[in-house]
Amino acid sequence: MEYSDYEKMLQGIREKTDFVPETAIILGSGLGALADEIDVKAVVNYSEIPGFPVSTVQGHKGRFVFGYIGDKAVVIMQGRVHYYEGYSMEKVTLPVRLMRLIGAEKLILTNAAGGINGDFNCGDFMLITDQISCFVPNPLIGKNIDELGTRFPDMSNVYNCDMCRIVRETANKKNIDIREGVYVQLTGPSYETPAEIRMLRTMGADAVGMSTCCEAIVANHCGFKVCGISCISNMACGVTDKPLSHSEVQETADRVAPVFKELIKEVVKAV
Ligand code: HPA
Repeated sequence: MEYSDYEKMLQGIREKTDFVPETAIILGSGLGALADEIDVKAVVNYSEIPGFPVSTVQGHKGRFVFGYIGDKAVVIMQGRVHYYEGYSMEKVTLPVRLMRLIGAEKLILTNAAGGINGDFNCGDFMLITDQISCFVPNPLIGKNIDELGTRFPDMSNVYNCDMCRIVRETANKKNIDIREGVYVQLTGPSYETPAEIRMLRTMGADAVGMSTCCEAIVANHCGFKVCGISCISNMACGVTDKPLSHSEVQETADRVAPVFKELIKEVVKAV
């Protein structure tokens, strides 16, 4: 894709709304309900944007919701697409670039993840402090779009220190427990084997999922300040002897959604 393709999509959105958000939020599996609680100013369905990838997974709505959380102008991506659906990494991460072009400067990434760290419990939240993305193709492969960012971006501070500090402080203030750790992205859609989870733990990963790292790379490339919070929706394969199912992931996400929404809302107001 060329820069002009992004400009065309931006134009498609601008025909519907001239809203300029400060903060962009991507909501993971089962966490989408936050978008129903904000002071909505505009909604743009992905299907209305020419060339935009549309998700096929249940529980993922496909739309940008523009509005306010407190005084903060936000755009919420309600439903993301995943690499395992068959989209290229470029398509998967395209919405991140688009939200940057719309004007957002900060990005809050959320997801449901499997807990690898044995100290974690199902239903915990984890502030993402770093990531391991080398099991999935890098979304920046291909001709660099110089208008968006540099060819060889630095990755030493993907998850912005100031935003991380604000997440910690906000959680403390609200009496919400929050863990910290490294998130690793695999392609999915199959869950991991016990041997893979042992490997990932040895490598330093605390939680595993099928999204987020690729988005953080693209966000870092195009100048977003990024933070990420995982909901530990299940313990990863082999950590407990329970088999994994998507419905368990969904159920946990639904159960903790009220607290998660509260945390995200307060973080948005504070960053
Ligand atoms: N593995 C990979 N992705 C996930 C998991 C998991 O255990 N839980 C939620 N997303």
